[in-house]
Amino acid sequence: MRILGIETSCDETAASVIENGTKIISNITATSAGIHARTGGVIPEDAARKQLESILPVITLALKEANLSPEKIDAIAVTVGPGLIGSLLVGVETAKTLSYLWDKPIVPVNHLVGHIYANFISPERSDGGWRPPEFPLIALVVSGGHTDLVLMKNHGKIEWIGGTRDDAAGEAFDKIARLLGLPYPGGANLAGEAQKFIDKNPDYRLNLFPRPMINEDNFDWSFSGLKTAVLTSLKDLIKSKNLKLSDYKAIASSPKVQKEKSRIAAEVQEAIVEVLVEKSIKAIKKYKPKSFLLAGGVAANKALKNTFEERITSRLTSAGLTENFLHVPIPKLCTDNAAYIAAAANFSYHPVDWQKINAKPELTITDQVEV
Ligand code: KG4
Ligand code: ZN
Repeated sequence: MRILGIETSCDETAASVIENGTKIISNITATSAGIHARTGGVIPEDAARKQLESILPVITLALKEANLSPEKIDAIAVTVGPGLIGSLLVGVETAKTLSYLWDKPIVPVNHLVGHIYANFISPERSDGGWRPPEFPLIALVVSGGHTDLVLMKNHGKIEWIGGTRDDAAGEAFDKIARLLGLPYPGGANLAGEAQKFIDKNPDYRLNLFPRPMINEDNFDWSFSGLKTAVLTSLKDLIKSKNLKLSDYKAIASSPKVQKEKSRIAAEVQEAIVEVLVEKSIKAIKKYKPKSFLLAGGVAANKALKNTFEERITSRLTSAGLTENFLHVPIPKLCTDNAAYIAAAANFSYHPVDWQKINAKPELTITDQVEV
């Protein structure tokens, strides 16, 4: 089955053709991140306007790259939520129109569940050694707006077992990156800054910031306190250097604090990674899944992937985990794109009349999309 996926939940406009849920035939993503970089964050109206301009060219290109005419597509999958309402509407209304015009079934997809399915897309590897994740599985979805830990007993059977009590992990990366004067999008830039410090100080013990809730008997997180801790740290830095700068962005761009800035970035990344990994390991011990999946934009973070790999190998292999246990999509499939939306629709194939498809900005990871 060939599915055309459409994704417009935030600042990307994406279309992709996927075969049998695992093979990418084409995957096109246009982003308005460049526009938002000027303001340091997404301006919803600007994002939606750019998406309106891009949606048809992006879909046309996805079909062209796949070398397929619309008749050769079996279904259309579209993100219905969560996300920005104006942005979601662009994808949803376009998908409905195409479904009507081309007379194709349409499958609504929850963006957060979609992220998980990036792990079901086969990597382009020649050794043929790749195997899809096995159920029951646990997935950690870490994106810009959400941090959820879920147990999946099968496709479409999702049980929420934990999540953030306040800011999402990606939000923490983004807000703190801003505090440090790093450009939008913050997560990847903060990771880059952190890496500068780690490369120069590989043996430095990073433990400046607190790890909230790490020892609590639940699978929840809290990231909002980290921002305050970073602020306090920046204030201390100002005092210690006798700087007279008033706003934090100016302070962070001062050449006098470059080294400390990289160190703070490394400390922030370490604090986020540490709690995400430790709480996830706690859940793995309790639920004993056959696979553990990382998903969402923050899953593109190299330190997160490496720490999971190290700790799972050192602490959990004796618990009888198989080789096929940890799954992390390639970075390009972690951040928003339409390939995983089409993949998710393939594995939970529930077409709905186009009249019944609506944008749902407030959707949670366990909410049904077909109502
Ligand atoms: O899933 P995603 O692309 O969009 C949403 O659905 O929100 O996630 C975006 C989030 C942003 O917070 C971004 O800063 C973060 O993922 N991110 C990263 C990295 N790449 C993207 N965070 C840390 N390290 C990265 N390399
Ligand atoms: Zn996303």
